[in-house]
Amino acid sequence: MAHLVTGAAGFIGSNLAEELLAKGEKVIGVDCFTDYYARELKEKNLENIIEDDNFKFIEADLLDLDLVELLSKVDYVYHQAAQAGVRSSWGQTFDIYTDCNIRATQQLLEAAKEAEIKKFVYASSSSVYGDTDNLPMQETNRLQPVSPYGVSKLAGENLCYLYWKNFEVPTVSLRYFTVFGERQRPDMAFHIFIKEILTDGKITIFGDGKQSRNFTYVGDVVEANILAAASDVEGEIFNVGGAGERITLNRTIEMMEDIIGKEVEKEYDTVAKGDVKHTEADETKIRQMLDYKPKVGLKEGLRREVEWLKKIYL
Ligand SMILES: NC(=O)c1ccc[n+]([C@@H]2O[C@H](COP(=O)([O-])OP(=O)(O)OC[C@H]3O[C@@H](n4cnc5c(N)ncnc54)[C@H](O)[C@@H]3O)[C@@H](O)[C@H]2O)c1
Repeated sequence: MAHLVTGAAGFIGSNLAEELLAKGEKVIGVDCFTDYYARELKEKNLENIIEDDNFKFIEADLLDLDLVELLSKVDYVYHQAAQAGVRSSWGQTFDIYTDCNIRATQQLLEAAKEAEIKKFVYASSSSVYGDTDNLPMQETNRLQPVSPYGVSKLAGENLCYLYWKNFEVPTVSLRYFTVFGERQRPDMAFHIFIKEILTDGKITIFGDGKQSRNFTYVGDVVEANILAAASDVEGEIFNVGGAGERITLNRTIEMMEDIIGKEVEKEYDTVAKGDVKHTEADETKIRQMLDYKPKVGLKEGLRREVEWLKKIYL
């Protein structure tokens, strides 16, 4: 069996590719090293697998590849490539989001029409829900993203649905709820906070810190992808949340300080546009239909992320 992981040098894509290879599978990884964050970090994400005989890495933009040819070589597609980040999706940079998140997804799906793939798993996001007090978020909720990024991820999800509906491309969309753990992107809150605590810096919290999230350990997200690919479910959308309860940002910072063993200087700033106050996944559907059971809770996942970041920053 051959698996295509797009965005394979990224945070989630590299963890997924590594797990598939550990299971003895063949993996083709595609990534163009967008400049959203440092290339060196992405190259480091690949260091465990780049020499693996079962891994073929293609450095290219999806929009420049012969996707029909590429998909003729694989059985499963895990489409993780995207321009991430809520706060940077405003203004002129939205062009990057339309290219990477909408156009690239549409072209991959168009190519998938002709291919005989068994499953096309799309990395969607809890940001499609927008700002709501209707918690926990259920797949059937009204979708009203409050950031251009969320709009682009929802467009990708809708494209997956319509290529399934009209052309029987076997798509499944997974709405990830704030993912953390080893290789977390350097623009994400946990990465920044842990780095600042480790290096005696200062952290800026947007808002009062009482915003809460359902944090999901990256290994659990990888598992959800593998379960979705192996299942016979098609045309469906699932929330992918974590093992723990919804928790405030202030509390997560205390947990980081406890793990590292020191306190950090904090300042509070105004809420960033596009940020949502709370997220919480209703996991009933994915537990029932895919037998998904997230395993790593916040404390253990944070410990693992701290250990990984110590190697980078200390
Ligand atoms: N990290 C989270 O908490 C989170 C939450 C919800 C959804 N997601 C989604 O999960 C996926 C992976 O996110 P991540 O956090 O690993 O981000 P990431 O930025 O670490 O990884 C994405 C990778 O895709 C690559 N890429 C982007 N556009 C490309 C293109 N046109 N061609 C080839 N490669 C391209 C980038 O270079 C990058 O390495 C994304 O689709 C993101 O929207 C992530």
